[in-house]
Amino acid sequence: MDIRLVKEKDLIQLATVYKKAFNGSSFAEDWTEKTAFEFVKWLFEKQKDLFFIAIENGKIVGGVAAFAKRWWNGINLSDLEIFVEPSSQKKGVGSALLKRLLEESLRKYNVTYIDGLTTGEISFPLNWYQKLGFKKDNMVHIWAEVKDTLKELS
Ligand SMILES: CC(C)(COP(=O)(O)OP(=O)(O)OC[C@H]1O[C@@H](n2cnc3c(N)ncnc32)[C@H](O)[C@@H]1OP(=O)(O)O)[C@@H](O)C(=O)NCCC(=O)NCCS
Repeated sequence: MDIRLVKEKDLIQLATVYKKAFNGSSFAEDWTEKTAFEFVKWLFEKQKDLFFIAIENGKIVGGVAAFAKRWWNGINLSDLEIFVEPSSQKKGVGSALLKRLLEESLRKYNVTYIDGLTTGEISFPLNWYQKLGFKKDNMVHIWAEVKDTLKELS
């Protein structure tokens, strides 16, 4: 397996991998080729030096991305996105991608922490992260429909 930085010409194939990984996951998201492409392109444009892909037999099988975010304690790696094509999961691809991202962001930005969101409803992938040293804290993910909140505010 080869791991390298993503290039713009990889994005179409990578979008398909992203779509399959998340539509087929416990998150049961509903990405289309178009929305997945727009998303990986947005990630790419936001921070391409911390966006890696894994290639096996000439095919993209996974990707990892995060942003170097300035914070009071220095620079942290934020908003982790990691995904592996379902037929290539459980073969070490995800761990290898994460390792590469951490090594590179430490070298380049001297990052301190890494954070991301996952579900607390089911054991995987939370237990995968915990085995790798991630901790769950008491922060709560909050969200609203913008129109609902605007109504409350009017
Ligand atoms: C999470 C993900 C990136 C892990 O990638 P991967 O290549 O399968 O990970 P690895 O092969 O490096 O590690 C797999 C480990 O997780 C376990 N695992 C993998 N898939 C699992 C599943 N569906 N249920 C339970 N355990 C699972 C494996 O048994 C293995 O455990 P081990 O280290 O004790 O052997 C991948 O499953 C994925 O893309 N999932 C869908 C997208 C997603 O959930 N991304 C994270 C969002 S928070």
